Parts: sequence; C-alpha cells; structure tokens
Amino acid sequence: MGEHYSSARPTSRRRPAEVSVVVHGLPLTLQTDAGVFSRGSLDRGTELLIEALDLGPCELILDLGCGYGAIGIAASRLSDGGHVVLTDVNERAVRLARENLRANRVTNAEVRAGDLYEPVAGMAFDHIVCNPPIRAGRAVVDRIVSEAPAHLLDGGRLWLVARTRQGADAIRTRMANAFGHAEIVRRGSGYKVLCSAKEARSP
Ligand SMILES: C[S@@+](CC[C@H](N)C(=O)[O-])C[C@H]1O[C@@H](n2cnc3c(N)ncnc32)[C@H](O)[C@@H]1O
Repeated sequence: MGEHYSSARPTSRRRPAEVSVVVHGLPLTLQTDAGVFSRGSLDRGTELLIEALDLGPCELILDLGCGYGAIGIAASRLSDGGHVVLTDVNERAVRLARENLRANRVTNAEVRAGDLYEPVAGMAFDHIVCNPPIRAGRAVVDRIVSEAPAHLLDGGRLWLVARTRQGADAIRTRMANAFGHAEIVRRGSGYKVLCSAKEARSP
C-alpha cells in the first residue's frame, strides 16, 4: 500500500512548495511538502471550515490533525488573546506547522506531535477544530468524535468538515450520538461543516 498523509514518518522524496491564500479575510503563506495533506493548494473543506469558525476572544483552541497548520494559524488570528494548540501524528506536518507559525509571526500557538488527543492529555478547550483524516479509517474518525467531549469545556464546541460523499452524514450521526445534537453550519462544493456543543452542566 502506498504512503499517505497520515503516515507518522513520511519517507516520500521531499518536494517543498508554497501555498498563498486569503481565507476568512486572512492572508496566509504556508510552506508545504510531499507526504502532507493537500500539498498543492488549501483544501476546499479546510477553507469552508475556517470560514465557518465563530471564535471569541481569549479562547483555548485545538487544531487536531493540523497538517501544515492552516486552521490553527487562522484560529490564532481569529481569537484575539486566545491560544491555539496544533497537533499531528505526521512528523513532517509537525515540522511544517512549526515553520509556518514562525513565518506567519504567530506567537499565541504551539505545535505538539502525537496520536489524536494524546499530546493534550488532561487539557480541555473552548473549541476543537478538525478536517478529519478520512483515509486513516473509520476508527480514527470515531475516536476524534467520541473522545472530544472529554477535551471540551462546558459549552465548548467540536467543528468538523467532511465531503458528503466521504461520509459527512454518518459523521454527523456520530456527533449527534456523542453530544445530543449536530448542526450543519456551512455547506458548499460537496462539503458540510458540522458543529456540536457540549452542554453546560447544571449547577
Ligand atoms: C485531512 S488532513 C487535514 C490537515 C489540515 N488540518 C488541513 O486542513 O489542511 C488530516 C490530518 O490528520 C492527521 N492525522 C491522521 N491520523 C492522525 C492521528 N491518529 N493523530 C493525529 N493526527 C492524525 C494527518 O497527518 C493529517 O495531517
């Protein structure tokens, strides 16, 4: 089986490239490479997800499966005074995300390497934002959803994007099972952006 973007240690020959985009009004210049997701251009699902984000000031945000860092870098600009943790299992993605934070002069974010929620064990966020690794298989996507509530503060939100023909409706059902509800907050180009909020516990 060929290597894909979810490999922890990509061995494909390096092919550095640069992606320049304006998304949600934010100009981003991002270094990319072979062996990471969407090397040649920002993924349309990622773009829709960033456009849908509704972040407040001073919030704690997790970009889970950050790739070269587009979502986390955008989130760091959208939450004034906030802090973003970007994580990925792919070490080439982690290195690029760190470089891109530096190059885009982002100081309110950090990148951690590791599997799913392991790098943020014990932490709880206002938002978890993820363009999930569909190619890593259903079990990985299921864990992203089912383990999210344990890493959200009361009222915190999980934001996911998926293509309708790659199972967005099934992911929405899993989110509804985990949270009690899941809304489609944006759709376009065959993608749906989904959002669930963790209910605040009654006192
Ligand atoms: C669809 S890509 C999205 C990348 C980036 N967020 C974007 O929107 O361009 C999914 C990402 O999840 C990462 N990933 C796959 N399996 C993972 C795991 N078990 N733990 C953490 N990240 C994982 C992949 O390496 C990849 O970067």
